[in-house]
Amino acid sequence: MMDLAIAYGSGAEALARRVAQISGIEVVQTIKKVFPDGEQHVRICGDVRGKEVAVFQSFAFSPDLLLVEYALIVDALRSMGCSRITGVFPYLAYARQDNRFSEGEPLSAKVFAKLIEAAGTDEVYAIDMHLHRFRNMEEVFSIPATNLSAMPLLAEHYMRSSTASRLMIVGPDSESSQWVEKVGRIVGSRCVVLEKERVGDREVKVSGEAKMDCEAALIVDDMVSTGKTLIEVIKKLKGASIGRVDAIVTHALLVEDAYRKLREAGLNSLITTDTVPNMLETVSVAPILAKALMKK
Ligand code: R5P
Repeated sequence: MMDLAIAYGSGAEALARRVAQISGIEVVQTIKKVFPDGEQHVRICGDVRGKEVAVFQSFAFSPDLLLVEYALIVDALRSMGCSRITGVFPYLAYARQDNRFSEGEPLSAKVFAKLIEAAGTDEVYAIDMHLHRFRNMEEVFSIPATNLSAMPLLAEHYMRSSTASRLMIVGPDSESSQWVEKVGRIVGSRCVVLEKERVGDREVKVSGEAKMDCEAALIVDDMVSTGKTLIEVIKKLKGASIGRVDAIVTHALLVEDAYRKLREAGLNSLITTDTVPNMLETVSVAPILAKALMKK
């Protein structure tokens, strides 16, 4: 393993410390303050001279502020003589804007990636990045980039907690088929992928006919934000008299009371990770990231 240190931004401190604990990689501390006018300030405490530094940042809730904070941390580390910067982004924002849906729109996924590179990043690790129109990370980044997946851990966790014999794995939309297939292979159940139309920031329509002759359903998606997507799928499954509906989702943004709404819609359990700090955090992705960094 090369001489490595871990640094963190405020979006991923807890996860960075979990990875450090598992891997034994030393952590350098970030001291952060915000000036009265909203500008951010960071100071890194530790010795990184000659070392590669894995900088953890999860871009949920305030991606723009967190990106600036990340860039400040990278600049500080460079000035302290580190040899290389690996950006570890458990949740990478703006990935869903992977198309100019109307004239005059930016290609946000690419813009965000370019800003990360311009900040001085040499390599990127992400977890279950939303890759849809861009099929892989090489199409988004021009530096080495690896997309790790939490789906195997999530699927194994589900299998330990469920005994349903007639189970169906359900994806809400075509982009979810990549995660649905992964989970389907591990769980060994029939998979169905529905169709989704987004009719507003908080409204979606889910359609698609499926033979729903099963006892239990497991919805699989990369993220839950307002919860609308999952709620529409839950309604469809409950309408087909499926008794138990669970969901596994890597990134639990759960904005605007989404978890309460999901439970009210009849969701039995939401199995998720700590890529984004949230109240559930059933499974930690720390072992996945520790393994990837220890291979360096
Ligand atoms: C988009 O295609 C994603 O995979 C998710 O399905 C979506 O972002 C979930 O958002 P929400 O919870 O707001 O419906």
